[in-house]
Amino acid sequence: MRKLTPKAIIALKVVIHAISLAFLALLVIAINTDNLGGDPVQGIIHYTGISALNTLFLTLLVSPFAKWTKQGLLVRVRRLLGLYSFFWAVLHLVAFATLDLGLDWRLLASEIVKRPYLTVGAAVWVILLLLAVTSTQSIQRKMGARWQKLHNWVYLAAILAPIHFYWSVKSEVAEPTIYIVIAIGLLLARWKTLKQRVCRKILSS
Ligand code: HEM
Repeated sequence: MRKLTPKAIIALKVVIHAISLAFLALLVIAINTDNLGGDPVQGIIHYTGISALNTLFLTLLVSPFAKWTKQGLLVRVRRLLGLYSFFWAVLHLVAFATLDLGLDWRLLASEIVKRPYLTVGAAVWVILLLLAVTSTQSIQRKMGARWQKLHNWVYLAAILAPIHFYWSVKSEVAEPTIYIVIAIGLLLARWKTLKQRVCRKILSS
């Protein structure tokens, strides 16, 4: 297989923008045409939550896929996918805070403290926020070795996000269970690298 060129990576980034914006357009169209089922507010919260989770998983798939296909340049699309995951997570939180709670910040805080599935969702949200704000190359350079340590938290986010999903449903656990299995699969795919990092940490402490 021919190696991807930097130009091909730019084209791939354009495709990622186009697909993400198309999914956003689908949501806007569904809202305007009343096509979000019996409870449109829940519909928006579900759509944005699933989109955040799917893009988070896609972000984590990039490295193993790049290794498997020996296409090292592919890792250049990881940041963009990660930012889109955070983008959907922002819409998800905004939808819940405005449409469900009427922008009552105190109520939002008390709900997050009171309901464990929301506490877990908020933890994932904060991790994604930290990863997004530290994702630029200049911050990566400034942070040095601490950058990788911080960005390893993405694995915690990847396992907590489907747990938040699982906990949020009442009875239909099949879909969130599949997501938990995928998360474990993604962690196993990165297991060798993770093990090396943990061993290095233990040896250096
Ligand atoms: C402060 C942060 C967050 C809050 C307040 C929050 C809130 C919620 C709420 C209220 C629901 C719907 C529960 C129901 O059906 O009654 C939900 C579901 C969900 N959330 Fe979150 N969430 C947060 C963060 C996240 C993040 C960061 C992700 C993913 C990366 C995520 C992914 C999901 C998924 C996949 C669902 C299930 C959607 C479905 O039922 O189809 N959430 N969340």
